[in-house]
Amino acid sequence: MQATRIHNSPKNVMILGGTGFVGRALVTELSRSGFSITIPSRQASRHRELALLPGVRLVDGAALANSDLATTRTVQPWAELISGHSVLINLVGILNEPKHNGEGFDRAHVQLTQTALKASAEAGIPQYIHMSALAADAVAGRSFYLRSKGKAEDWAHDFGAQQGVAVTSFRPSVIFGANDSFLNRFAQLAALMPGIFPLACADARFSPVFVGDVVAQFMAAISDSGQAGQRIDLCGPTDYSLRELVAYAARTAGHPRVILGLPDWASRLQARFLEFAPGKPFTRDNYASLQTPSVCPTACLRQPTRLETIAPQYLQKRSAISM
Ligand SMILES: NC(=O)c1ccc[n+]([C@@H]2O[C@H](COP(=O)([O-])OP(=O)(O)OC[C@H]3O[C@@H](n4cnc5c(N)ncnc54)[C@H](OP(=O)(O)O)[C@@H]3O)[C@@H](O)[C@H]2O)c1
Repeated sequence: MQATRIHNSPKNVMILGGTGFVGRALVTELSRSGFSITIPSRQASRHRELALLPGVRLVDGAALANSDLATTRTVQPWAELISGHSVLINLVGILNEPKHNGEGFDRAHVQLTQTALKASAEAGIPQYIHMSALAADAVAGRSFYLRSKGKAEDWAHDFGAQQGVAVTSFRPSVIFGANDSFLNRFAQLAALMPGIFPLACADARFSPVFVGDVVAQFMAAISDSGQAGQRIDLCGPTDYSLRELVAYAARTAGHPRVILGLPDWASRLQARFLEFAPGKPFTRDNYASLQTPSVCPTACLRQPTRLETIAPQYLQKRSAISM
């Protein structure tokens, strides 16, 4: 692969997962702030509009591996691509895996982090920012998702401490914003329900955090090496149950629904069936993740933006489109 040579300036950032929901918001802000940003993607052609932003370079991930960066185990193919950047940011995350045995989560979360961070350290990149998740725990996590997220986070911090790389990780609860796949998805589902919305794990708890606040924290971490070694929980100002959030999204999008919380056995059964539906809308691993509240511990510094000030802007637009 021929990579463009990049000067090692404090304003050169490489982002894995830069084409996703959080990635796009961060890339937009970095571009606005004059950064040069490299984004490898498995499907660069699908995200061409990102490359129109000033300073953004989209790289076809297929040049790194057979269409899946997570299968690239050797450091060498990464070295040329990473070299010259001042920060590596890893936003790669999945909620479902092909085989329901933990291997897919391990590849995407743990192995990819290990390969990329080793390559980054070899290339002399001094800073790494890692996206984890609230309640991620390598040992006590209830799901493959939470354990693999915890393992990747622990590995990154241990490696950073040994190799002298400044590692910061962020642990958000669910993130909301115009293109989220959480409130938007429930609003979309509500539109299809005939008045009653049967909901699995209705008592699961979240502290939704605004994507703009998440981006602000990443921007602060890039410019403040004092955050090295920290693992920072990101929660919004208020805790809600899933039932409250779904009722709110449905109402705000113009489809008010009665939420019928399913008993535990029915939630499990739903997960067992839906994990074989196209796109795996709900899996046993998702069910397991929802058994741990995704809310801030008492010492957590809450982010300021209230859900109710932002979500109507995009949920109401959705209802206007569907009318
Ligand atoms: N959104 C939330 O509510 C939330 C909450 C807690 C934690 N997080 C974490 O925050 C991060 C960003 O979330 P998001 O909502 O922005 O996710 P997203 O929209 O699904 O984007 C995920 C990104 O990861 C890349 N990716 C996925 N699988 C990959 C693989 N096997 N190899 C390489 N790249 C892969 C995709 O890039 P390409 O397809 O272009 O290659 C995509 O850009 C994730 O780590 C997620 O776990 C999110």
